[in-house]
Amino acid sequence: MGIVFDEGLIDEIKSQNDIVDVVSKYVHLKKAGQNYKGLCPFHHEKTPSFIVSDEKQFYHCFGCGESGDVISFMMKLENLDFIDALRLLGEWAGINIDEISTSKKEKEEIYRKNNIYQINRDAAFYYYKNLVKEENKGLSYLFKRGLNIKTIKKFGLGYAKDGWEALNNYLLKKGYDQESIFKAGLVLERKKKNGYYDRFRNRVIFPIINTTGKVIGFGGRVIENKEPKYLNSPETPVFNKGNNLFSLNLAKNEVRKMKQIIVVEGYMDVIGLYESGIKNVVASLGTALTKNQANLLKRYADEVIIAYDADIAGQAATLRGLDILREAGCGVRVVRLSEGKDPDELVRKKGKEAFLKEVKNALSLIDYKIMLSKEENDLTTSEGKVKFVKSITQILKQLKSPVEIDVYIKKIARESEISIEAIKTEIYGNNKKNNEKKEIVDTRKYRSKHDRYTNKYNIQPLKPIQKIGYIEAERALLKLIINNKTFFQRVKEQLCFEDFMDQSNSKIAELVYGLYEINDSIDLEAILNQLNIEEVSILHQIKNSIVPKENVDKALNDYIKTIQKHKIVQRKIYIEEELKKLEKKENKSKEQIVRIRELCIDYEKLLRELKKL
Ligand code: GTP
Ligand code: MN
Repeated sequence: MGIVFDEGLIDEIKSQNDIVDVVSKYVHLKKAGQNYKGLCPFHHEKTPSFIVSDEKQFYHCFGCGESGDVISFMMKLENLDFIDALRLLGEWAGINIDEISTSKKEKEEIYRKNNIYQINRDAAFYYYKNLVKEENKGLSYLFKRGLNIKTIKKFGLGYAKDGWEALNNYLLKKGYDQESIFKAGLVLERKKKNGYYDRFRNRVIFPIINTTGKVIGFGGRVIENKEPKYLNSPETPVFNKGNNLFSLNLAKNEVRKMKQIIVVEGYMDVIGLYESGIKNVVASLGTALTKNQANLLKRYADEVIIAYDADIAGQAATLRGLDILREAGCGVRVVRLSEGKDPDELVRKKGKEAFLKEVKNALSLIDYKIMLSKEENDLTTSEGKVKFVKSITQILKQLKSPVEIDVYIKKIARESEISIEAIKTEIYGNNKKNNEKKEIVDTRKYRSKHDRYTNKYNIQPLKPIQKIGYIEAERALLKLIINNKTFFQRVKEQLCFEDFMDQSNSKIAELVYGLYEINDSIDLEAILNQLNIEEVSILHQIKNSIVPKENVDKALNDYIKTIQKHKIVQRKIYIEEELKKLEKKENKSKEQIVRIRELCIDYEKLLRELKKL
């Protein structure tokens, strides 16, 4: 945004919004050691790894790595920009940032956005009054479509009259300037630049409201059969289609409870379902889902159910949207409605239960893709079978769980009559014996220069890892020993936890060493509870550090050596400095001479040790 707020104001708002209180509004937190812990609102998980520090006023998710202070928490959770997050937190603390903020630029920016929100609110009110105060085409249309007045109120639906300047005149009369009304996207400039006319005319209006209750834009549907059927607000300083979902404001509380959200194509689908009592529904505003929308959905729900019309659901853009959802960490299932039917029609004709049954039977993303591929290819021909299997194996390669892959392999083998072996080969390639997916490890790191150039001994590790720093070596080593007690026992013989030079690493090592005294495996939970928020973030980095899968023995030794070497080098530097200091002295005392001799002996020893490494 480029707006810099007075640090004092930010601190004030932060200090009045205790992070534990704020997070508790959204996440059930429990005290754990020196921190609080709960299920991360930013990614799907079953055991809590979201840590909030009372002391540091900071959060960190050990699972997904999200971290920050109370402001970034609100930004991410409610999809707000910095100022809106500050504004909301300010409200909670009884501070009105719009009155306080000082710089002219800030004031202007806030004023501009607020002004558009205000204009939108007034426009929405105007449209609403048009719709309900007297008979009009809009209202009869909505009644014809089966809506009741309660729903119309709930969604704040409206009607844009059939004139050219009705809204514009209304807003001008309210005192808004023409430029702002234009910026809000409500009017268009005449071709001859001699005035403005209303964007929405003779249309039913659907206000789009964000999760903090602000009207950010509008959709408008024709009443007669005209083109285009729907019109939306353009991009404005407060409206970006790809960042928002229609009706999330009404759905969010229900979704938080159910952990499931249904995404439909259109405004009318949301409204139809809502009226029937299905309230965890939003619409994607007629475009394929974006990354921002996926993140927004993930914030509220664990599972996203896609319920598009049959023709739209199979389209490439939609499928990409589904992959975006999956990548964002949402569980995705797809309802397959029959051709020409949309959720609104289904629920009106067959009722709530009929739609919920479809939701219950929704296909997993993989099953859905398999079904599409089956429809695309003629499985009665050999060519069709091959194409089918090839397309499915591409999809299966993205799966992480070998068990899951196995289940699908069996399934498609049955359906295509192609052997399980052949399908496995297609997925894993010829030279792979087991079913495990290969972890990408840069084995070049562990090869000698000679090998790298000749590429002769592909798998032999030769050169120690000199390149990686001791901190990385410590982390990689910790990762290895946390996962494997045998490795731990080997490391323990050569390093004690104090040999880990980095303070956080050393603390984690101490806990790991301690836990192995009584257990055969490490329960990360037990470690997490003992760490402060910075150490949690280090543990997260340890968890994510890349360790080799092959030649682990060699890597283990290399890490140990790197750490030992670092320790010796540090000691060497220390001795060198001490000696320099002592040697400078003119009249050395007897003790000093003894000390010099001791240091020299030490030094010799260090040099010998260094050579051995
Ligand atoms: P009804 O026809 O009133 O039942 O609406 P619907 O929501 O079922 O419409 P449809 O399935 O045809 O389209 C789904 C969504 O795509 C709509 O709600 C709009 O958001 C969007 N959309 C449809 N047609 C247009 C169009 O012509 N222009 C734009 N910008 N968006 C459209
Ligand atoms: Mn429809």
